[in-house]
Amino acid sequence: MGHDCQMGHVKHLYVHVPFCAHRCGYCDFVTVTGNDDRHAAYVDALLRELDAHRGVLAEQVETVYIGGGTPSKIGAPLLALLLGALPQATVETTVECNPEGVDVELAQVLGERGVRVSLGAQTFAAPLLATLERQTTPEQVRAAVSYLRAARVPSLSLDLIYGIPGERESDLARDLAVLDELAPDHVSAYDLEAKPGTRFSIHHGRELEAQGELLERHLDLVIDSLGYSGYTWYEIASFARSREHEGQHNRAYWLGHDYLGLGIGAVSTIAGARRVNGPKLAAYIEEPATAPTTIEQIDERTRQTERLMLGLRLADGVPIAEVADVLNRTALERLVQIGIATTTDDTIRLERRGRMLLHDCVTDLLNDDDAA
Ligand SMILES: C[S@@+](CC[C@H](N)C(=O)[O-])C[C@H]1O[C@@H](n2cnc3c(N)ncnc32)[C@H](O)[C@@H]1O
Ligand code: SF4
Repeated sequence: MGHDCQMGHVKHLYVHVPFCAHRCGYCDFVTVTGNDDRHAAYVDALLRELDAHRGVLAEQVETVYIGGGTPSKIGAPLLALLLGALPQATVETTVECNPEGVDVELAQVLGERGVRVSLGAQTFAAPLLATLERQTTPEQVRAAVSYLRAARVPSLSLDLIYGIPGERESDLARDLAVLDELAPDHVSAYDLEAKPGTRFSIHHGRELEAQGELLERHLDLVIDSLGYSGYTWYEIASFARSREHEGQHNRAYWLGHDYLGLGIGAVSTIAGARRVNGPKLAAYIEEPATAPTTIEQIDERTRQTERLMLGLRLADGVPIAEVADVLNRTALERLVQIGIATTTDDTIRLERRGRMLLHDCVTDLLNDDDAA
């Protein structure tokens, strides 16, 4: 990846922990079920991969994000070992947890180390959890929240999914009322996507395709309700109680900063090259630094295209100068005229309606046919 000539500037580290108790039907993340006897060997492999790439990291790493899969699945002692061996982040360390894996001991490990926690609640309606094939119960989410609060984690985020087949607006309103009551510092609210190749896309793909309008109404409700509860909508799927609780690791990604990814399936983008680690657990544990990877060069137009697509997710928008080569200025003028975008301070920002129609706006703005 050109590590030798680009040493020491990467400030963001992602660590993938793929283990899950069971594979939820809608999920296409790189996950592994069973293999509980390999947790320690995998953590050891992560640290060997870190050693192999350590040279690309800056002296001060700003953010570390341990995602999954289910990082909480490896248990408190191994998670403590991993957190202790990774570079100490100066801005934010986040660990993704599944509620059923959070007990007093795990919460304590996270609280003592000042770790931000992202907890997958998804919905508090038992029938919808069953549709998602989630094994977690709403009571387990509540218990996890109280353990994490008692352990004083500095920031707690809950993930919500809406647009679940069979979900009515009243179900979503109830989920939002529970969020208001639990009062996390941050909420990530995703519309359910039928990821190709998942069981979900086979059983529910058509239903999900047909619910475009419903999703818009759901998103309206999410934005209004979380706004009323005091959250700022700072990114298309992200809401924070205050600026200090915004996800800084994800922000770095949306801003197109370089990052190093460790673990199976992990992605790294460093100095114009993107590396994707292979998904095979055994090969990775055997020899993490040389397990199969794919590498792609990111040219300037691709970089600017990604910068526009990701940057417009943020309320802060994208400076025009950073996307000048790929921007259709006629389309931009048109979006400004109809009140969907603004260009104050030479920065493109999408207004509420524009962010709700993000995909269409980005397609318009990237269209290189000026007559479009
Ligand atoms: C890495 S995933 C899983 C984290 C954790 N294992 C869990 O299940 O809660 C992070 C988040 O992505 C979201 N997600 C996963 N698959 C999705 C899909 N098909 N559509 C929308 N959101 C999805 C879920 O909200 C999930 O909490
Ligand atoms: S949604 Fe979470 S728990 Fe379910 S399979 Fe995906 S990563 Fe694992």
